[in-house]
Amino acid sequence: MKPVECLVRDGVRGFRPCVHGAEVLGAALESGLLPGEILDFSSSVNPLGSSRRVLDAVVGAFGQVAAYPDSNSTGLRQVIAEHYGVGCGNVVVGNGSTELMYLFADAFLKRGEWAVMPAPTFGEYESAVCKTGERVEFVRLGEGFKVDVGAFKRQMRGAKLVFLCNPNNPTSMLIPQNVLRDIVEEALVQDALVFLDEDFLEFVDDEQSLSLIGSIDKYPNLFVLRSFTKIFGLTGLRVGYGIANRDIVDVLLKVKIPWNVNCLAQVAAVAALRDEEHLRITRELIKEEKAWLGGELARFGSFSFCEPDANFFFIDIRKSGLTAAGLKAKLLSEGILIRDCSSFRGLDEFYVRVAVKTHEENVRLIGALKRVLGAV
Ligand SMILES: Cc1ncc(COP(=O)(O)O)c(C=O)c1O
Repeated sequence: MKPVECLVRDGVRGFRPCVHGAEVLGAALESGLLPGEILDFSSSVNPLGSSRRVLDAVVGAFGQVAAYPDSNSTGLRQVIAEHYGVGCGNVVVGNGSTELMYLFADAFLKRGEWAVMPAPTFGEYESAVCKTGERVEFVRLGEGFKVDVGAFKRQMRGAKLVFLCNPNNPTSMLIPQNVLRDIVEEALVQDALVFLDEDFLEFVDDEQSLSLIGSIDKYPNLFVLRSFTKIFGLTGLRVGYGIANRDIVDVLLKVKIPWNVNCLAQVAAVAALRDEEHLRITRELIKEEKAWLGGELARFGSFSFCEPDANFFFIDIRKSGLTAAGLKAKLLSEGILIRDCSSFRGLDEFYVRVAVKTHEENVRLIGALKRVLGAV
């Protein structure tokens, strides 16, 4: 038999999986600490975890594990649809929102077509496109990591798919509404589809008015992504969803694998969406702690960052004299894991991302930073 490498489809041969935060096990091996001894600031999820009501719902659903889950997550889709005032047929549920990125690229990119996205942004969009064997064009974010709408519209000419992240990972910045709509309308004119990732939008004040979910009728080319991973803290259960025009959703429902979301995840997501109190408490905590952490981080003269729109800080640390890898290693020796952002396309080795966590955890981060940077 030929080497397996020769049997692999072209698009897959050069495929490189994306690097992510939250690699607590790897960090534990590297540092000699136990995973439980590491405080993870590298993944930006709800520091309170999932709510009590969610955990109770999951325990109550244990009896369902011997049966197949509902393949189309119908009950959950109905609850999501009611929540946003759209139809059940406008909602598709995925095994984490990441599944929907791959499904979308796979379903809509024909041979020879290409996708466009900003750089830096979340790496799985690029991986999803590359896995289809098709090409990505990157539009570098402009001054202050803002989308240069003129440059973006020029470079998206001829693209089939446009990927956008609002607020963007890793920059923690919102794309202004007029810029977003301008790009979606430009895409509409050229029959391009827009994949708009709003996974972090629930952490932003005024989420409802900033979301484009209410515009799916106006923009039949728009797919809006959401997740239960971030603010709801169902990170390990893997459940996300997309809201779009029925024609787009129908295609995705047809091509997704059956039983893609397990029964516990479906039950947990329904309970999470209904638990408004947990969301309120989380938002209050993040708001307070973001302000506190921002003030403390600003006291390190060697950190440059903008006011974050999401629940994480994106920091340029070059004035500290350390690289992101260097600072990450020093903090790991203190039991703290941060995200070295140098694997993000378009960034050099001097950017880190740090999540907003509980006050006690944030105090530990600042203490560790003071020790490793020699500040008082
Ligand atoms: C912007 C963005 N979208 C999507 C995801 C993946 O989310 P999920 O856990 O729903 O697959 C991440 C994970 O870090 C992310 O940063």
